[in-house]
Amino acid sequence: MSLPVTSTVDADGIGWITFDDPAGRANVFNPATQAALRAATAALAASAAKAVVVISAKEKIFIAGADLKWLAQLPDGPAAARVAREGQELFAQLGNLKVPVVCAIHGACAGGGYELALACAWRIASDAKETLIGLPEVGLGLIPGWGGTTRLPRLVGVHAAVEHMLKAALVPAVKAQQAGLVDEVVPAAELKARARAAALKLAAEGPPRRVAPPAPPADFLADQRRIATTRLRGQPAPAAVLDAVEQGAGLPLDQALALEAELFGRIATGEVARNLLQVFFLKDAGKKATLDAWFPSTPAAATAPAPFQIIGIIGAGVMGSGIAQWCATRGYGVMLCDAERDALERAITIIRGLFDEAVKRGQMTGAAAHKAMGSIGVTTSLEDFDGCDLVIEAIVENVAAKQKLLAELSRIAQPDCVIASNTSALPIEELAAGAVNPERILGLHFFNPVGRMPLVELVLGPHTTRPHADRALAFVKALGKTPVVCKSSPGFLVTRVLFFYLNEACRLWEQGVPAKVIDRALQDWGWPMGPLRLIDEVGVDVTDFIFGEMRHYFPDRFTGTTVCARLLAAGLKGRKNGASSGFYVYTHDGVVLNAAVEAMAPKAAPAPEPGAIAERLNGVMIAETGRVLAEGVLKGPDEADLALLLGAGFPAFRGGLMRYARAAGLQP
Ligand code: NAI
Repeated sequence: MSLPVTSTVDADGIGWITFDDPAGRANVFNPATQAALRAATAALAASAAKAVVVISAKEKIFIAGADLKWLAQLPDGPAAARVAREGQELFAQLGNLKVPVVCAIHGACAGGGYELALACAWRIASDAKETLIGLPEVGLGLIPGWGGTTRLPRLVGVHAAVEHMLKAALVPAVKAQQAGLVDEVVPAAELKARARAAALKLAAEGPPRRVAPPAPPADFLADQRRIATTRLRGQPAPAAVLDAVEQGAGLPLDQALALEAELFGRIATGEVARNLLQVFFLKDAGKKATLDAWFPSTPAAATAPAPFQIIGIIGAGVMGSGIAQWCATRGYGVMLCDAERDALERAITIIRGLFDEAVKRGQMTGAAAHKAMGSIGVTTSLEDFDGCDLVIEAIVENVAAKQKLLAELSRIAQPDCVIASNTSALPIEELAAGAVNPERILGLHFFNPVGRMPLVELVLGPHTTRPHADRALAFVKALGKTPVVCKSSPGFLVTRVLFFYLNEACRLWEQGVPAKVIDRALQDWGWPMGPLRLIDEVGVDVTDFIFGEMRHYFPDRFTGTTVCARLLAAGLKGRKNGASSGFYVYTHDGVVLNAAVEAMAPKAAPAPEPGAIAERLNGVMIAETGRVLAEGVLKGPDEADLALLLGAGFPAFRGGLMRYARAAGLQP
């Protein structure tokens, strides 16, 4: 079996270190890779090479970083600190070779991969779109511990280094060059030749002369610390990055590295890091989801399911427009239908706006947006759907309207056309009641806004058969979304659990706990926003409607409230469709509590402690998720955790709702 890292010296005297792990599509650092790099470095140290180039033979990955399964198994802080120290020493060994070392980057260069690059004298990156570079460790509850927090500030300055590490996102090659993370960006086809040229130049002329990076603005680190404490709720990794940078700045390189390793050790096996690593694994598993457990007696077909080509979408409202735009972005032909011509015109304006925004953000080129826009057709007639292989209905949330539509559509569409409903709560079998060939009817529950929300609940009706469900699952993955598979049941998982939670927040409000106390408590616990603020975002009208659905389906347990109806009667719809007030008022100057709603509030009772409020509301979620699992709506708690992380904004650093419940000893 070949080694994950090998070395050779070519006829020009260039030593090549090539990463090409035979174990997979990615190169990752683990003890085996490290041993192979150590051996390759030693071999070149003993050779007559006059310069060295580090490169990857993989198509899309330079080095993806450390093997996270390995890190997740480290027993304790001292073991993690040792791993950091050993990695640092390995990279130092490479960087301290007597000859210059050039890093030639094509594909993802993340975490430890970029820390290796930092130890080299020169970094040269391909301009390919898969070349993404940086230090995302903070997003996993870690800090760059193989030299990142020490070397990056020395290269690009404290300001740029801290911003990059706290953002925890990989950047494309051109942006990496602008930020000083790499020295050159070259066409992918020229990477090897240009790296060789750079190596020969350095061998002839000596190491590059670099100007000292600028000092950070006064108070920069103090400001960052404040943000880390408030916005990031005191998570340990951002604070540890700041400690490493601030304290390391005044130290000689090796002492700064030792400090970095110690800080890494302090947090790498802590609760938050463990939780964030778990979230990474959940997302990874979600992307690989199959239907095997749902159809134990129907094995998957031997060949991949036939991909959809043309997607029909009925209902050109908020969701229909978003789904149409996303499908077109991903290369599908789209036929968008609405009963109202005006709705189609509005949808086209919205979709054009979404494409403009994507171009502005650099997510796609103007030409690609133009092409995608051109792949969307509009119609007011269902007859135009006879050529589609998937039709998604996103019309008004009304059982009778959806039933009538699906009955009609199922007679027009080809018998093997998959028909999906984007309903947020209605059981699929109710909607399919009058349809022919109900085995191809299922739910594809997208979330709003479609372009930003990564989750799609794939809902299986009792009649849905595997071949159709497999095609739908492959489609969700091809859209770049994460599927969570549910058995049809009112509200599936996310709507059901989320709206029980939102309703409990309304109940608390009606019991005299002020809106700001409720929202503050949940935000402090880690939610991106409090539940009442979330009702404003979802729309008070939509929330009230879904509360009605929940009352209908769970009459014994869903204790209704009147607060949303009262807001609506006062014309307060939340923050949508031009409306700018609900529990809060939204202006250019900021967000403030709505005095009109405050005036409606019952007499304030002594407010419970924030911890008790969070416990009560989270407890409702845990209990409802427990019921969902007991009813077999999902296959397991991991799926529930993933869905609530991606679909409801459950705070990632808590690791997942049911994981949290288990750790806290709370019974569903
Ligand atoms: P919307 O009210 O914005 O749009 C519905 C559109 O459907 C309107 O343009 C209407 O003219 C059209 N329509 C109604 N009956 C029709 C028919 N028989 N044939 C053709 N067109 C018809 O609704 P929205 O918010 O886009 O919701 C659509 C569906 O998606 C609902 O089932 C909703 O529960 C679900 N959903 C909504 C989310 C949201 O945040 N708005 C999130 C996830 C799901």
